[in-house]
Amino acid sequence: MRVAVTGGLGFIGSNFVRHMLGKHPGCSIINIDKLTYAGNPANLRGLERSPRYKWARADVADTSAMRRLLKGADAVVHFAAETHVDRSILGAAEFVRTNVLGTQVLLDAARACGVSRFVHVGTDEVYGSVPRGKSRESDNLLPNSPYAASKAAADLVARSYFRTYGFPVIITRCSNNFGPCQYPEKALPLLVTNALEDRRFPLYGDGRQMRDWLYVQDHVLALDLVLRRGRPGEIYNIGAGAPITNLELVSKVLKLMGKPSSLITRVPDRPGHDRRYALDCSKIRRELGWKPVYEFERALRLSVEWYAHNREWWEPLKRHTAYKQYCARQYGAKKEN
Ligand SMILES: NC(=O)c1ccc[n+]([C@@H]2O[C@H](COP(=O)([O-])OP(=O)(O)OC[C@H]3O[C@@H](n4cnc5c(N)ncnc54)[C@H](O)[C@@H]3O)[C@@H](O)[C@H]2O)c1
Repeated sequence: MRVAVTGGLGFIGSNFVRHMLGKHPGCSIINIDKLTYAGNPANLRGLERSPRYKWARADVADTSAMRRLLKGADAVVHFAAETHVDRSILGAAEFVRTNVLGTQVLLDAARACGVSRFVHVGTDEVYGSVPRGKSRESDNLLPNSPYAASKAAADLVARSYFRTYGFPVIITRCSNNFGPCQYPEKALPLLVTNALEDRRFPLYGDGRQMRDWLYVQDHVLALDLVLRRGRPGEIYNIGAGAPITNLELVSKVLKLMGKPSSLITRVPDRPGHDRRYALDCSKIRRELGWKPVYEFERALRLSVEWYAHNREWWEPLKRHTAYKQYCARQYGAKKEN
């Protein structure tokens, strides 16, 4: 199978590319990635010489490039997006351009090229905050951040291509991921890498926001199943089903690392911050037989170890202007970030 992956130099995309090439000898991948600040060729180091892997530096919102690059692809797995909520609050334009326009351009190119499967990788944030119960795939979308709104819009455009054109789109909505190769502005790698440097971690508000953390390998396994066996036109929630508060998560990680809780510094809550996400994942369990393989504590330990043993991966990123400029805008001139 020839799979076009978008955003394969990012966190989840790169884990997916490695998994697919490792698990399926008959699979070849073209990775379409523009290489924004969040993309990193080091995530796929070692694959450059593989005859089954190729990276094309291109923007998903570029119509002619997408039509050229998708020729001959059997399937598309669409990860490419602007993904950091805090950045979307600082400025939403790039989120709408890449996430909404980019998705529409990619869908059109995939249709024109006769692609027979299109997996749109989405997020649980499209449901908005759920005070109680669990979000089901049929629930209304009530996104609260510009990031989540752009992802919800992309979901709906993707869905419309199935309803209108019968184009075989499958949508996934996954909870918060963690694991190797996640850009250090995101909560978990920020916490772990700051703690490794004995720097403080900024915790939003009262820290009682609930999230359901999924190890990236489990997400990748779910996407592999959805790609091969998911039903076109369907939506699949993907999550671990064990939500915890941000404060619990941060305390757990610091304890695991043998670091003091004095490394937590409270900062004012994020505007529009969703209080609780919770997914009903019974559909993917029932239809595709997926469930998480990694026990949460073990996955946390594996992640902490990965950042501890791969300082050469994240230290240059934290020294880079893109990261420093973001921290200056987000946190002011505070040293700890
Ligand atoms: N990280 C999570 O916890 C999570 C959870 C659920 C869903 N998702 C979704 O999964 C997908 C991947 O998330 P991630 O955390 O790996 O993202 P990431 O920010 O780590 O990587 C995004 C990748 O997309 C590329 N990219 C950005 N704009 C592009 C463009 N216009 N054209 C081509 N490439 C472009 C970047 O260079 C980067 O390699 C996203 O669609 C995100 O919404 C993420």
